[in-house]
Amino acid sequence: MTLTGSDETTSTSQAQVTLKKVPQIDLVPWDPDSPSHVERLTQQRVACGWDVNRVQKWATQQREGYKFIYWIVLSDSPTTSDPQTASSWLTKHLTLYPTESTPLTPSSPSSSPSAPQIFIPLGHISLDTSALDVSRGRLTYDLPSPTAYRVTTFYVSRSVQGSGIGRLAMDRIEGMASDPKGQFKASVLAISTALDDDEFKKKYSIVEWYARRGYKPYKYVERAWNHTDSNGEEWGWTAIFMKKDISSLLSPENSTSLT
Ligand SMILES: CC(C)(COP(=O)(O)OP(=O)(O)OC[C@H]1O[C@@H](n2cnc3c(N)ncnc32)[C@H](O)[C@@H]1OP(=O)(O)O)[C@@H](O)C(=O)NCCC(=O)NCCS
Repeated sequence: MTLTGSDETTSTSQAQVTLKKVPQIDLVPWDPDSPSHVERLTQQRVACGWDVNRVQKWATQQREGYKFIYWIVLSDSPTTSDPQTASSWLTKHLTLYPTESTPLTPSSPSSSPSAPQIFIPLGHISLDTSALDVSRGRLTYDLPSPTAYRVTTFYVSRSVQGSGIGRLAMDRIEGMASDPKGQFKASVLAISTALDDDEFKKKYSIVEWYARRGYKPYKYVERAWNHTDSNGEEWGWTAIFMKKDISSLLSPENSTSLT
């Protein structure tokens, strides 16, 4: 049996229990009025390769309370269990992206006591309200409920992808979204991504990952995004929309308040 949380190995009468340490992460709000936050998000969108030109639009949406972009940062918590791995993640990130070496500061007090007062983000993730779903044409999520939120604008530094940071970020954003004492109180979370079967299958399937996390497909849009490859051939990606009912997490006994 393997559990995560620490790297102690303990013998019990019933089983050998291995507890693996992992660094902890915090989500720190992106500040649309901070030039350094805006510049860093732009750098990370360039590295991501999608939606580089949307940063100014997102700034407006974040100011107006329709979009909530967070930095994915290493936690400062004294109980952070694996400082060596955390440090190696940061080193890998800065080796690949040396222009991101200037630390940022949060614009407002974070909801998490472990969130650092100075940080170098390893990526970002956003919660978007249903109100932002209008005018998306055939790419609408079709989730009119005000308690349905979308997880979007999700990127982990390419230098450390596959290390478990995405999983930590999803755990955290789902916890925030479903916190009965938090600001969102979401009942449903949705994502959309490119269907990665057939010719678009990569090393691993993001769709299968979301499915493992409990997201269920409910809508497909063919040729949602087009791409012309180096041979001039045009490809069209099918968009898959998936959602997860998190209303059961909203009951007070399941509170995961970060405050
Ligand atoms: C998608 C993304 C955010 C995931 O972040 P990440 O830090 O790489 O994710 P993790 O390392 O936590 O891995 C996520 C899952 O994929 C699996 N995985 C990751 N790399 C893998 C690999 N090379 N082989 C097999 N499985 C792999 C992990 O096991 C994990 O599954 P689990 O939680 O069930 O164990 C990140 O890869 C990214 O930024 N990609 C580019 C932008 C993008 O695609 N955004 C999402 C659009 S919806």
